[in-house]
Amino acid sequence: MKTFGEYLKGQGASDELYSVLMTLKDASSEISEAVRVADKGEAGTENIYGEQQLAIDVLSDKILQGMMKGNSFVGVIASEELPDEMSVGDGEYGVCYDPLDGYSLVDVNLAVGSIFGIYKTKSFVGVKGDEQLASMIAVYGPSTTLILTVGKGVVKFMMDDDGEFILREDEIRVDEGKMFAPGNLRACASRQDYFDLVSFWCKEKYTLRYSGGMVPDINQILLKGKGIFSYPGYGDVPDGKLRLLFECAPMSFLMEQAGGASTDGKIRIMDKEVERLDQRTPIFIGSKDEVKRCEEYLSS
Ligand code: AHG
Ligand code: MN
Ligand code: MN
Repeated sequence: MKTFGEYLKGQGASDELYSVLMTLKDASSEISEAVRVADKGEAGTENIYGEQQLAIDVLSDKILQGMMKGNSFVGVIASEELPDEMSVGDGEYGVCYDPLDGYSLVDVNLAVGSIFGIYKTKSFVGVKGDEQLASMIAVYGPSTTLILTVGKGVVKFMMDDDGEFILREDEIRVDEGKMFAPGNLRACASRQDYFDLVSFWCKEKYTLRYSGGMVPDINQILLKGKGIFSYPGYGDVPDGKLRLLFECAPMSFLMEQAGGASTDGKIRIMDKEVERLDQRTPIFIGSKDEVKRCEEYLSS
């Protein structure tokens, strides 16, 4: 039974990357505990997207910021909850994160999570998802799990009673299968192409598995080994809601490493350059053939 640290050593991770990922693992433990016991109410503040912040969004962000500042290998951080990237030292590593994904799920006690992307950079402006050295999601559900890639496949760890993360799956693969998580169905009201795509899935009797949280939804596709998650834009929000740097790029690295794919409808997400930290992108991510189908339907 390998621990998180033993796995990283076995993969030949550098001392620096090892340290950064161990710190993110520890931060995930703390956030997991906070999600369990802390205040679930609103913080009374807004983030730069004009979205209400929950007390737990702010607390998760604080936990991460404190721990990143304490790691000498980290030089810059960027958070979905901060207005700008922040220099935290001389380290070579840049860590970007959505400290808590799933705003609308917290008060009803559904699974939520954190999303992390790790780069070697002094600034996130101009990076592409392809430059990530590692990406990871933490899922805070009935159990706390981490899904990680360091560019050598995708693995899963589960937190045990002692707070140790133990390797539970060492080769997560995404193949084909009829499961769908169609986000932003509102777009169907004005977009015939998305309506037709969703109709195809319905007619073909796909199984609906949609939680309203990108982390549990993508986690599900990875662990069931099949399926598609979509979040298009429409009308005044042509790029949808999900953020390239904090959400879509790290998820796409995990999905591609598991043998799946990810696109904005035309361009591979991992090829997209981050022009602004708050940049959004449509996303279609999961089984390869499904992603291809999305591109076909949306280009017609
Ligand atoms: P966040 O809580 O970090 O703002 O992001 C929530 C996201 C994502 O998890 C989910 O897929 C999407 O919001 C759902 O949005 P809508 O329910 O508004 O379509
Ligand atoms: Mn989010
Ligand atoms: Mn968030």
